[in-house]
Amino acid sequence: MSPLLSVRGVHKTYVAAKRSKVVALEDVDLDVGEGEIVALIGPSGCGKSTLLRMMAGLDTDFEGDLSWSVPPRPGKDIGFVFQEPALLPWRTVRRNVSLGLEAQRDTSEQGREQVTTLLDLVGLTDFADSFPKELSGGMRQRTAIARALAYNPRILLMDEPFGALDAITRDRLHDDLLRIWETTHKTIVLVTHSVEEATYLADRVAVMSARPGRIKAVHTVPLSRERTPETRQLPEFAKFAGMLRQELV
Ligand SMILES: Nc1ncnc2c1ncn2[C@@H]1O[C@H](COP(=O)(O)OP(=O)(O)OP(=O)(O)O)[C@@H](O)[C@H]1O
Ligand SMILES: [Mg+2]
Repeated sequence: MSPLLSVRGVHKTYVAAKRSKVVALEDVDLDVGEGEIVALIGPSGCGKSTLLRMMAGLDTDFEGDLSWSVPPRPGKDIGFVFQEPALLPWRTVRRNVSLGLEAQRDTSEQGREQVTTLLDLVGLTDFADSFPKELSGGMRQRTAIARALAYNPRILLMDEPFGALDAITRDRLHDDLLRIWETTHKTIVLVTHSVEEATYLADRVAVMSARPGRIKAVHTVPLSRERTPETRQLPEFAKFAGMLRQELV
């Protein structure tokens, strides 16, 4: 079966100020299957965000080929969580989360309930009427996660979504994301710096090398799909995370 997304021979060069060139991605190949959770891990500046933006269709200026077996409908099928939560400052938390639904002109009761459920899921019920400037960094990031989930995209592209969160909230959101995946089987590409996060969440982990970014290796996580907090205690978990850590240095 062909993968949902296949990336072939992708090169990306940025022309920065004073016309200096930065080769961000070189000869990148990657497949993402339908319903799969793929983690992208690599050192800072290796091109993870660049690759994710291409997948989202936000950057089309590159060489190589990026093809979908079922092309996502713009603004409907792809949910994107940016590395820096891009919230609208003049909208409350609830109205930021419901942005995608409004864009789709979904004013249904079901849509409103979905927003309420998601606010609860990310622990922001009490802040539903607050504005972004009144939130902590982690709360802003949780709002952005809820917003990406609100319009029920088929594909979720997440750029270090949990990086700014405290360890307890992060672990809880990992389990929430897995629960959402169990019921929806969304395709997820997740950029992370954390080998533990990649191991806990992903089916496969793509390890990138430092600039220019290439995919050094793609590993299948040797754990059953069902992950619970106890999974983190398994010897296979520590062994796999340790192997990723080695590969990153
Ligand atoms: N708009 C841009 N103009 C010029 N260079 C850019 C631009 N965006 C990214 N770059 C360069 O491309 C390279 C890859 O950047 P990218 O943001 O994709 O890295 P990253 O892997 O996401 O890093 P981090 O883990 O720090 O978020 C970096 O060297 C960066 O300086
Ligand atoms: Mg980045």
